[in-house]
Amino acid sequence: MGIMATNVPSQNEKINLERMVTEHLDLTRYSTMHLHTTARYGAFPTTLEELRALLSWASTEHLPVTVIGGGSNSLFSDRGIDGLVIITTGMNHFHINGEMFCVRCGMNLESAIDHASEAGLAGLEMLGGIPGTVGGAIWGNSGVSTIRVSSCLYYVDYLTMDGKLHRMQVHNDDFSYRYSPFMEMPQTILFEAAFRLTPTRQTAQLRIIKEGTKARRREQHQFDWPSVGCIFKNPPDVSAGALLDQAGMKGKRIGGAMVSPYHANFIVNPEGNATGQDIWELARQGREAVEKNTGIHLEFEVNFLGQW
Ligand code: EPU
Repeated sequence: MGIMATNVPSQNEKINLERMVTEHLDLTRYSTMHLHTTARYGAFPTTLEELRALLSWASTEHLPVTVIGGGSNSLFSDRGIDGLVIITTGMNHFHINGEMFCVRCGMNLESAIDHASEAGLAGLEMLGGIPGTVGGAIWGNSGVSTIRVSSCLYYVDYLTMDGKLHRMQVHNDDFSYRYSPFMEMPQTILFEAAFRLTPTRQTAQLRIIKEGTKARRREQHQFDWPSVGCIFKNPPDVSAGALLDQAGMKGKRIGGAMVSPYHANFIVNPEGNATGQDIWELARQGREAVEKNTGIHLEFEVNFLGQW
């Protein structure tokens, strides 16, 4: 991968930190699992300058920084998240430059697919129905079977904690199943991504493909209850869901958390009262049962934020 200078323009505007930062922010509605927890400070930047001002403030105050996109692949600790939590969903602009679809990382992936399709650019539509933001999807290299976000990713602009913007020219080989190099760069925030897409006149067809992949998820009841999608990554050549199913996990409950009766790699929060601890215990039981049955050690796909 290569690092080069970036061309994202800076914006001169007055930053009002007090208006942007909320103390003791309730994070329930920023978690697709609807976990009740609080951020010591929460902030919703909309521009690069606001993001930089927040990082500078956190540095001065010695606050650790946690980034949340759509909250669709993260489990929040019941004990809250210390320091500053930056929620990226306000950074959601996009522009198109020929075949290049350039989008701020806080945009919802679904909206990004719609904007690209409307502009007659194909390549992202197979990712229809994946919840979360563009940044979250890049960070975790989300995908559907063999199609991954990294497949058509061209560059990513990211910030380091000193507020500097860097560009990573992406090579698909640097990414793999549910892995991106950003996982090994904890002190960075994804800001903007460019996808190199294929021009087409068949925009109606793109919509049909997107709705088709979404419908398949709906048929698997993936949207029936609050959840964070699959808890574990698939081990090579086997579905973690199938292994957990064979271990008898479907429908099991701990507190408010339940293993989905439709797909054993989904833990759901049907009544909205599951705690992070309930989910952790249920996942741990499933992992132990699979290990006992098959000797296979499942790895978490979800991130654990805050103290666990
Ligand atoms: N299966 C079972 N029992 C289960 C779950 C699955 O027997 O409880 C069997 C299915 O019948 C099928 C096979 O396992 O024969 C594969 O199942 P599925 O098509 O559901 O795919 P998966 O490998 O379990 C992966 C992704 C999902 C994505 C689907 C469809 C991972 C960890 N999961 O699941 O991604 O929706 O393929 O593309 O890679 C996510 O990551 O959050 C996620 C939902």
